[in-house]
Amino acid sequence: MLLTFSLLDETDLQQARRLLADAPWADGQFSAGDQARQVKNNDQLPTDCDAARALQALLLRALDRSPRFLAAALPKRVLPPRFNRYSGDANFYGPHVDNAVRFGDGGLRVRTDLSCTVFLAQPHEYDGGELVARGPDGDRVVKLPAGHCVLYPGTTVHEVRPVTRGARLASFFWIESMVRSHEQRRLLLELDDALTALRSRVGETEEAVALTGTYHNLLRMWADT
Ligand code: NI
Repeated sequence: MLLTFSLLDETDLQQARRLLADAPWADGQFSAGDQARQVKNNDQLPTDCDAARALQALLLRALDRSPRFLAAALPKRVLPPRFNRYSGDANFYGPHVDNAVRFGDGGLRVRTDLSCTVFLAQPHEYDGGELVARGPDGDRVVKLPAGHCVLYPGTTVHEVRPVTRGARLASFFWIESMVRSHEQRRLLLELDDALTALRSRVGETEEAVALTGTYHNLLRMWADT
């Protein structure tokens, strides 16, 4: 399941874009696995620079405040967000699957259940640069307004199409979910969405309380914390 939603408010978006404008970009190959390195051609922000640290904090705060992200990802661990730029000669990332396990500082290990891309340039600022995710029902082509994100299973073959004008700026990161199974996580999100709609229509009825209990009991059964 691939989900898109708005993540950054206007203030955060402008702040992120200011930080990215002066950022010390570097060749993106250093973060790719062996297979990915052959198809990857973009710029990335070194993770240890001031701009990256400020941007990471901004993104992580936004994730913590996003009910949609929390409900859909049920995050257990989130790797510090990274930032990339596709423009000029460094303008594409061919079809690949992300590494199953990623390593962060201090021995942090994250199983990449979910991948997230946050678009930080407006669609009219560049041509191409769509994220294409292969699925059983065909390709999904994603190009979102700045501040919006796409969340998709880490098992997905995906690519970024060549950028032929302008610059595509984005943040990307991986999430290990408390609920490893995509199917179980999807059921929980469907139940959560239906409950939210039910509650807004009829209020906190006895049935809504009972179904909320069912949601939490399923999460208790499936969650690994
Ligand atoms: Ni990837």
